Amino acid sequence: MTFSEAEKAAITSIWAKVAGHADDIGAEALERLFLSFPQTKTYFSHFDLSSNSKDLHNHGGKVLKAVGIAAQHLDDLDRALSTLSDLHAQKLRVDPGNFRLLSHAIQVTLAAHFPGEFNAVAQAAWDKFLSAVSSVLVSKYR
Ligand code: HEM
Repeated sequence: MTFSEAEKAAITSIWAKVAGHADDIGAEALERLFLSFPQTKTYFSHFDLSSNSKDLHNHGGKVLKAVGIAAQHLDDLDRALSTLSDLHAQKLRVDPGNFRLLSHAIQVTLAAHFPGEFNAVAQAAWDKFLSAVSSVLVSKYR
């Protein structure tokens, strides 16, 4: 998947705002995911999933930081996410349908935090971006 210069700018400029708050924004995205789509909690039975828990912050930070690495490698997502792709496909075996749900939760969280910047154009770019990230993470299932 290729990104236009305008899409790249929308993705990296929003990421620059998220970068310093990855744990908080990631925790909120996960909380939204688990509340709206409770079936996704089954993968995290070993976590404390209560609101604002340490586990939500730790894991949310990891997920968002991986999104940040992807945002910095828009021309080479396959290579940038290769290890994570192995993990999700071969070890975790997360049902591929769940990636759309997490992408949705991340976008709602960005909209809530950055209402000015996360306009329709930025959202369209992020939707395409998160869908590309998801495609890479589910590309090694067999
Ligand atoms: C682990 C990123 C989607 C379930 C991880 C880790 C990262 C990550 C960075 C930690 C890897 C490590 O510790 O080395 C992402 C990204 C996603 C995504 C960027 C999509 C944008 C999902 C989805 C699910 C999921 C949709 C299931 C609903 C898990 C689980 C772990 C994990 C169960 C292991 C947690 C643990 O025991 O520490 N993911 N993930 N991931 N991910 Fe994902």
